[in-house]
Amino acid sequence: MEIVVVENYDEMSDVACSVVEETVKTNPSCVLGLATGSTPLGLYERMVRGYREGKVSYQNVKAVNLDEYIGLPASHPQSYAFFMREHLFSKIDILPGNTHIENGMATDENAECARYNALLDSMPRDLQVLGIGSNGHIAFNEPLTPFESETHTVALAESTVKDNSRLFERIEDVPRRAFTMGLKNIMDARRILILANGANKANAVYGLVKGEVTTALPASILQKHPNVVLVCDRAAAQRLGE
Ligand code: PGA
Repeated sequence: MEIVVVENYDEMSDVACSVVEETVKTNPSCVLGLATGSTPLGLYERMVRGYREGKVSYQNVKAVNLDEYIGLPASHPQSYAFFMREHLFSKIDILPGNTHIENGMATDENAECARYNALLDSMPRDLQVLGIGSNGHIAFNEPLTPFESETHTVALAESTVKDNSRLFERIEDVPRRAFTMGLKNIMDARRILILANGANKANAVYGLVKGEVTTALPASILQKHPNVVLVCDRAAAQRLGE
């Protein structure tokens, strides 16, 4: 694993954006695996800026997202489909038909998981962008998710509901279940860019880099991937010297 420790969130976002832009410049029809949450917001702002400055075009890029809340339509402001349109897709030249995410309103959940797995198999990710949860989750693969998992439905861990409640008016409004790519789907990406900032991620980052490879800390499986770059700020990296 390549580890880049930077001073702060802005620097983390700068480095992340160079990795994404290099990927797209090298292969203008690449497949990007994308993530939601607070962590990649700075990256997306910079991707939009790079596009507006004419540095990069996303016209032939395909995007597949990690996860989506069950029960929220794509028009709901807290859905991840909405987040992606709001922060990235509506501001760059990616074709809407080339963006993919699970359908949070699918009535047949098993069929939706199968559809997404087939889609992932047909579109191997050249670069997968990831955040990390304070409990070490990646996407919504909570602790004890099997490493061989593919797209599945999950009950969110209480800590995740709490972490994500800051984005909702009331904690009761946070959906309790989600669709998520599985750990095997994530490991299938050719390259993985994982981002972490803030002291509340320090334990998770320690487990990711130095901990035992264990389903108790799902991100630890990335130690087995041959091409991972971790970009984190000093606060998130504070335990790496131990
Ligand atoms: P965050 O979430 O970026 O909002 O901290 C990260 C995650 O849960 O993967």
